[in-house]
Formats: sequence, structure tokens, C-alpha cells
Amino acid sequence: MACISLNRVCARVVQDKLYQLLVNKNQNTIYRQTRNFNNATINLTKRNQFGFNSIGRNLAGSLQTTLPLLHPCTREYSSVHTQQPAKPVREVELDPYILLDDDIKYVTQDIRDLIESGTNQPELDTIAKYYFDGQGKALRPMVGMLMARAINHHIHKDMRDPLESQRRVAMISEMIHTASLIHDDVIDQSNFRRGKPSVNVLWNHRKVTMTGDYILSIASILIARLKNDDVTIVLSEILTDLVQGEFMQLGSKESENERFAHYLTKTYRKTASLIANTTKSVAMLGGADESLSELAFQYGRNVGLAFQLVDDLLDFVSSAEAMGKPTAADLKLGLATAPVLFACEKFPELNPMIMRRFEEPGDVERAFELVHKSQGLEQTRFLARKHCIEAIRLAQELTESPYQKGLIVVNDYVLNRMK
Ligand code: FPP
Ligand code: MG
Repeated sequence: MACISLNRVCARVVQDKLYQLLVNKNQNTIYRQTRNFNNATINLTKRNQFGFNSIGRNLAGSLQTTLPLLHPCTREYSSVHTQQPAKPVREVELDPYILLDDDIKYVTQDIRDLIESGTNQPELDTIAKYYFDGQGKALRPMVGMLMARAINHHIHKDMRDPLESQRRVAMISEMIHTASLIHDDVIDQSNFRRGKPSVNVLWNHRKVTMTGDYILSIASILIARLKNDDVTIVLSEILTDLVQGEFMQLGSKESENERFAHYLTKTYRKTASLIANTTKSVAMLGGADESLSELAFQYGRNVGLAFQLVDDLLDFVSSAEAMGKPTAADLKLGLATAPVLFACEKFPELNPMIMRRFEEPGDVERAFELVHKSQGLEQTRFLARKHCIEAIRLAQELTESPYQKGLIVVNDYVLNRMK
């Protein structure tokens, strides 16, 4: 054990040193991590497990776009087609998961411990721990901890550890996220998630729904223990947003003109609010004033919107195997996401299909085909990239540190992810 811990510390030290070295060499560039640091090898394997792929890879075969190797904000985008990087891949890249190794690792285990200590019902314990298996991307804790450390550095100009309260927010965020997925799986009648049978397949719906509530109640206790009214309000907003986002998704009879605004509001509420209010909360706990807290919020909002746009895109282009959950699922659920809404401009015959939620025989297949024939996928990707560029711009307002750079690199992950 001691040896593993030492390795982790070494990996962090090596990365910090390397970072300093390289930042000094070129202030504006993020580098790919050289693969032969003996201490980092294990972590690089784990990084794949989190589902993010290296920069510069194609999002999917059907898209001819690749992401910029360096910060998107350093490039100009004149069209939805991304240019190939002008420069070769750099030697070293900052990896947030390596940077945050210990921060992220504690999250899942601590949540499992809390779940266990809160109940004497073995089945509730088992169901509640089912998705806390270390297989998720842990995006929310990762972004939350990066923001916490970046803000702390921005305010105090040193590399102090995050506050315990900031770590708690990362846990709370992951718990709210997982509780919402459990409810969502019941609503969507999912078959599998993260490459295994979804929770609703293995246990009855009443028990599963109550388990979601149980996880939320443990998260509520954690929120109360923060003893910070302002942060409590911010975190509570996530819950009202999640429920309203899900409600908005259930009914979509809005007119053509209102449709995109409805979709974006729904997307904010269902996905971006959780990330935005997480990054805002850690900033507030770190002592950020109103404008700095707002910066943290807007950063999370933009990353969250981009994340969901890419999710909606992957639903059309990725395989179920890669995603660990069924694809082309949105159309089957009657949902018109960004790729379809963009495709409508070229193929108005999609409008009546959207209105009837793709319920007639052949609707799903035809809509799928039209999306691929249109520019809907590229336009969705372009919009996601726009949000990432804005998130990067905001992160660049923070004092330079490995964690601030991490907030920038996250955007490459969000855009390049394969699942
Ligand atoms: C996944 O969506 C679901 C969400 C992001 C949020 C679901 C929210 C609720 C069910 C409201 C209740 C909230 C709480 C906190 C109990 P998706 O179906 O598009 O994604 P998927 O493909 O991963 O299932
Ligand atoms: Mg679902």
C-alpha cells in the first residue's frame, strides 16, 4: 500500500515538475504526457477506463473532423469542418486524471462507505452501490476538483490542498448524478448502462426508485453538513433543474420556432446545471467573490452543454459497445436532439415526425437516415466546440496553474470522447 501511495505521489511530482519545465518553455501550449514515466503507466491505463481518448482522434468514422491538438481557442474556426492540426502532436499532454489521482480515487470509495453506513438493509446497500463501481467517467468530480484547486491557486497563489468541503461537493455532485441516472433508467426502461445490465433490469422498479431517493437523501445530509446556506441553495437548484429538465423532455409539443430554445433549456437543466452549480459551489467554498463564482458557473455551464451535445451526437454515430449503453436510443424514446433539429433545416419532412415523437412505423429509421444525410452532426459538433471555446476562454482568466490548464484540457476530452 505504502508503495502504491508513494508511486502516486511520485507521479504527481513528476507531472508537476514536467509541467513547470514545459510551461516555462512555451507558455501557451499544452503537451501530451510522455508515456514512459514508470510511475504514470498505471494511471494512463486507468485513464482509458474513464472513457476518454487521446487528443486528435476522430470522434467517429462518419465525421471527418478532428480536434485541435492544442487549445481550440488558439485556432480560428471558419466552418463546421475542423482543420487538421497544423503542428505535429506535442510530446506531453497534461492529464487531469493523473493530476487529480488521489482526489478522484477517494470519491467512489467514500460514497460507497457512506451508503453502507447509512442503512441496515442489505439489498438497498447493494442496489445503491451498483453504479458506484469505479467504471464511470467521474467527469463531475474531476471538473469539480480541478475547479476547486484552480480557484484556490487563483486566490491564494499557492498549491494548497482542496478544502474538505470542496471534496464533499465533488462527492455530492456524483451522488446526485447517479441518483438521477437510476431514476432515468426506470423512466427510460433502459437495458444496459456502462456495459452491464442497468439497475432496473436487475431489481424491481419500486426498489430501484427508492434507492435513487436513498442516494439523494445521503447527498442531502452531506449538503447540510457543509453548513453554508448559499452553497446549499446553489446545490439545491441542481435538483429542481434535473426534475424540470426531465419533465421538459417528456413533452415536446412546442412550435418549430421554439424547439431549439426548448432543447437548449432542457439540456442546461438536465446536464449543464449539475456541472455549473458544482463548479460554482467549490468556488464559493474556496472564498471566490461573486464575479469569480460566476466565472466558475459559466465555465461549468459551457462544459456541461458541450458534454450533452456530444452525447446527443454519439447517440447517432457511436456503437452500443463503445458507449456501454444502447445507441440511437433518443429517437426510439421520441426525442429530437440537436442533430435532428439541425437536420430539419434541410429536410422539413422531419417536422411531422418530431411532432409525433417518431411513433409511426419507419419514423426512427427514416429520421436516422436523414440526420446522416444532413449537416446535423457537424452542426452539433460545431455548437459543442463553441461552448468549449467559451469554457477555455473563461479558464484562461484564472491564474495559471496545472489545475487551470486541466480545466482547459477537459474540453478536449469532452469533444473527443468515444463514450
Ligand atoms: C440521463 O439522460 C438522465 C439525466 C441526465 C437526468 C435525469 C433526471 C431525472 C430522472 C429527474 C430526477 C432527478 C433526481 C436527482 C432523482 P439520458 O436518458 O439522455 O441519458 P442516458 O442515455 O445515459 O440514459
Ligand atoms: Mg436514459
